Amino acid sequence: EKARKLFAGGADFLKGVVAMDGLPPDDRIEVCFAGRSNVGKSSLINALTGRKGLARASNTPGRTQEINYFTLGDERFLVDLPGYGYANAPVAVVEKWQQLLKRYLSGRQSLRRAFVLVDSRHGIKAVDQEIMKLLDRSAVTFQVVLTKADKISVKDREKMLVQVREKLSKHPAAYPELVLTSSEKGYGIPTLRSIIASLT
Ligand code: GTP
Ligand code: MG
Repeated sequence: EKARKLFAGGADFLKGVVAMDGLPPDDRIEVCFAGRSNVGKSSLINALTGRKGLARASNTPGRTQEINYFTLGDERFLVDLPGYGYANAPVAVVEKWQQLLKRYLSGRQSLRRAFVLVDSRHGIKAVDQEIMKLLDRSAVTFQVVLTKADKISVKDREKMLVQVREKLSKHPAAYPELVLTSSEKGYGIPTLRSIIASLT
């Protein structure tokens, strides 16, 4: 019910941020979506808000190059982050947004939860572990969201869940519960909406 109300409040693009001083005032509850390039961050925001073209998604890794802020109702922000790992952009440019990403993840007061997206076919990689360590050090609670669940079999899915849980057990800032999603099929979307609505 809370989730229904919150998401009925509508979502809108607010701004793209390229430096820390461009961040909006730190006075709303916010959640962010982090993960390797192409894992499905922007697609997930579109699925959550029910607005297909809200966050720009594409098959080209490195599509999102700024920290994109979306309003959710009057009191919350959804934050779409640039991907880490491979990106189709010059090295100097990539370094610049990676640095911004790290600063954001370690220094944002109003960040209530970081959703770390992991492709359910590929699992947690070394670059994910690095981000998770940063979140551990900054004491930012993060929750793993497995994406593209429509692309794996039930058997592989179960194996992946065990593997991911095992790796998460070593991270003090990890929220133990995983969310399995498909932006394409809508799996896990209501669950994620409830989680976002429940954060205070
Ligand atoms: P960057 O901004 O480059 O870091 O990527 P991103 O993490 O925002 O990924 P994006 O949402 O742009 O999606 C990347 C590709 O994966 C697109 O071609 C999407 O259509 C596809 N995709 C995203 N979510 C799903 C899903 O749940 N199922 C399937 N089958 N494809 C998906
Ligand atoms: Mg994106």
